[in-house]
Amino acid sequence: MTHPIAIDVKATDFDAILVEKGRVVLIIDPDALTVLQTKIDKSTHGALGRAIKSDSFSVLPQGKSLELAFPVGLLAETLQVVKLAKSVPPLVARRAGGVIGANLSKVSSLISLEDHPHADELTFGAALRAYSFDPHKTKPPAPLGQVKVQANNPEALAAKTASHAALAEGVFFTRDLVNEPANILTTDSFAARLAAMRDLGLEIEILEEPQMLALGMHALLGVGQGSESPSKLVVLRWNGGKKENAPLALVGKGVVFDTGGISIKPAGGMEEMTMDMGGAGVVAGVMRSLALRKARANVVGLVGLVENMPDGRAQRPGDVVTSMKGTTIEVINTDAEGRLVLADVLWYAQETYKPHAMINLATLTGAIIVALGHETTGGFSNNTLFYDKLAKAAEAEGEGLWRMPLGDAYDAKLTSRIADIVNSCGRDAGAITAAQFLQRFVKPETPWIHLDIAGTALVKTATDLAPKGATGWGVLALNRMIADHFED
Ligand code: BES
Ligand code: MN
Ligand code: ZN
Repeated sequence: MTHPIAIDVKATDFDAILVEKGRVVLIIDPDALTVLQTKIDKSTHGALGRAIKSDSFSVLPQGKSLELAFPVGLLAETLQVVKLAKSVPPLVARRAGGVIGANLSKVSSLISLEDHPHADELTFGAALRAYSFDPHKTKPPAPLGQVKVQANNPEALAAKTASHAALAEGVFFTRDLVNEPANILTTDSFAARLAAMRDLGLEIEILEEPQMLALGMHALLGVGQGSESPSKLVVLRWNGGKKENAPLALVGKGVVFDTGGISIKPAGGMEEMTMDMGGAGVVAGVMRSLALRKARANVVGLVGLVENMPDGRAQRPGDVVTSMKGTTIEVINTDAEGRLVLADVLWYAQETYKPHAMINLATLTGAIIVALGHETTGGFSNNTLFYDKLAKAAEAEGEGLWRMPLGDAYDAKLTSRIADIVNSCGRDAGAITAAQFLQRFVKPETPWIHLDIAGTALVKTATDLAPKGATGWGVLALNRMIADHFED
């Protein structure tokens, strides 16, 4: 498990900056150097001032930086100068922190934040960006050096940094799960990693195949029947709220590997399908953060863990399965497996926990990547009031989210010749018809959001707050929505 860097918060101290041997980081508003920064400029014989007045600094956007190597007058090997006014929005400060985090190295760092109003966002951004997934490297990069932060009010900043640490832990848990290959993260080991969160006070229940069979979950079980790994449904409960309050349900698609099954995928890029448990990964990360920060909310997470493999026992195209709800499904394409898994988990969640509202996350369709790329998640909902709460939270956290339509004309495409519905109905509006399929398993009275994170769960180039690979998209937005609307 990858943990965020420990951040050591101290009081602002000019002399400590002069003798720091590793990296010194300054946050500079070019129009308003602080007294401390003016003193540092003097110590560097004006090198800092010349850097700030240079063309290369003046063309930098807010939140970006330049570096001076072996600055005269300091003992540091690098002076990183981040351009950031005090008046910037919090997210610009968080991303500026990302620029700091991306450049941390094995040497120690001293970040001088003085009285920047978003000092907490700067440290949070640095922590999020400083993630690295190395458990399978025999020569991993050298561990990061000590990170010291100086602030004028160190107690206040240390308190905020501690509460952000619970969120970074959740995000990193999600990223680790999504980055992990499928020979390591099997349904069994995934369930074991979730069960280990009992130590944090989460209630964990694992439903095995015989129990799911008894419940009639043939849609979910059909997907896993070609795999050597047993299918599982893991329920994670955090009961931090009042007893009488119905929980919020978070449901995740946990396909630990998606070959496509008998409707097998082409070889190119298939290795990426280790991330097809991304929805379950986000649910796990949110539950971890809620437990770590002892959220005063009732939340139940449910993840369907399966592996979609071709095999002599695998489900065939044309098979008809009966879902727990009773709806029969003609499996046109065994690669449209995520919706089959979610159909039963969504139904089970509503029958068992009578949730106040329900959100599912899934790397569900390639079509959502065609529509929105890797920057924005597609959101679908039957309830605008509920949806807007999440949309606001996602915006505040800088996590891209765009609402997509649902409608009867799309639903009509699900008609099957021999069963109630089909699991796949062609390329047109592929992300929407997938969402319509899920909605067949949502009671009209349950406020519901479906988040298609196929594009946002994993990226090929680094973002401001994550290296390339798993992003942890959604952990922060969901945590914020819960904090804003579901806590007593
Ligand atoms: N796991 C995939 C969707 C996916 C694609 C996730 C690319 C991440 C990156 C899903 O199970 C799938 O195969 N969907 C099919 C559905 C189709 C057969 C109706 C798709 O999108 O092609
Ligand atoms: Mn698939
Ligand atoms: Zn899939």
